[in-house]
Amino acid sequence: MGEAHETIFTMEATPVKYGAGASQDAGWELKRLGIKRVMLVTDPRVAALGLPEQIARLARNEGIEVVTYDRSRVEPTLESLQDAADFATEHEVNGFVSVGGGTSIDTAKVANLVASHPAPVMDYVNPPVGKGRKPPSPLAPHLAIPTTSGTGSETTTVAVLDIPDLRVKSGISHRYLRPTQAIVDPELTRTLPAEVTAATGLDVVCHAAESFLSRPFDTRPRPDSPEDRPPYQGSNPVADVWSAKALELGGRYLRRAVANGDDVEARGFMMLAATMAGVGFGSAGVHIPHSCAYPVAGLAPRYQPHGYPDDHPFVPHGFSVIVTAPAAFRFTYDAMPERHRHVADLLADGSPPAPGPDALPGVLRRLMRDVGAPGGIAELGYGEDDIPTLVDGALKQQRLLAVAPKEVGEDDLRHIIAASMRNW
Ligand SMILES: [Fe+2]
Repeated sequence: MGEAHETIFTMEATPVKYGAGASQDAGWELKRLGIKRVMLVTDPRVAALGLPEQIARLARNEGIEVVTYDRSRVEPTLESLQDAADFATEHEVNGFVSVGGGTSIDTAKVANLVASHPAPVMDYVNPPVGKGRKPPSPLAPHLAIPTTSGTGSETTTVAVLDIPDLRVKSGISHRYLRPTQAIVDPELTRTLPAEVTAATGLDVVCHAAESFLSRPFDTRPRPDSPEDRPPYQGSNPVADVWSAKALELGGRYLRRAVANGDDVEARGFMMLAATMAGVGFGSAGVHIPHSCAYPVAGLAPRYQPHGYPDDHPFVPHGFSVIVTAPAAFRFTYDAMPERHRHVADLLADGSPPAPGPDALPGVLRRLMRDVGAPGGIAELGYGEDDIPTLVDGALKQQRLLAVAPKEVGEDDLRHIIAASMRNW
């Protein structure tokens, strides 16, 4: 290892309280965090289930004032995030609690950021799309309570947003965006439809696989200052532990959680897997499948999912990620064959495939089929003519592609996307 290489990685994670009934501690946790007036961030679908009202009641029982914001969009935009930030400023809150999927948690992260350090949302968006401005000091406390088992957003430093005008998805990432505390309560996922469980579970699997198969942290150049150290550090011994365990749980429980919503054990382990994968990828990072997922989800999709109540066509995040995963990991195989083999074995749940470059893609395709995932990009509404635009969109995610275990250029992405049109 030469002198110019990074020698340091950071261990950082949201404190997590996990278990059936854990959400009953929400009021106690908010009080512990010193919050007097809290903005509860949720979305209309979750609000209709009554969960946010239960959390609000627990907060009020502790003498905390609650203002509820239930307008989180499934795909947050600059406008929807600004709207949430304005709401926070207007109501002079000193803390946040998010109750919902990744988008509610992400909306709370950005509302907290912009209310704490006022600036246009775009200033904070990752370059080259935005200016990559960094918040000068920590934000207000944020308690995250996920109600799906997928994004792991409760443990990460990232918020994802849609920029329809530029036809691109991008993100804001900074360590201060990481929630102060998470409560992960498997009982909150009981009502998730099978398709949502499948999509979010496949997202979990990709978070863990991409992290485990990311560029080792000590192959990055050493940064000039600690400030320049990226939130996505690349694979490291601590992230590996979390990612490997999440892969094992995903291989063992995802099929069961999808097949039977009342399988409380499987749902519980998938929710734990989501959080564990969140810790892994919040440290190591995700790369090619997530880079491709941005344009796949963001470019005028024609896909109408069945399990989601929203009446507009959109590609669930987990499906947009998984469709390119088999081809992406076929491409990265030669950068770290042993690690690819390990991921395939963990996901295969006791029946390891024959080793080789096609082992992991094969295991992933089987899992996708078993949980009813779309068979490829074509099924999501894209044709061969769309390939150049999809490649362009993936190339915009340089922050993620930099974490891939080998250099990935335009031709490589074209090959991966073309091969992902139909996975079987
Ligand atoms: Fe994801």
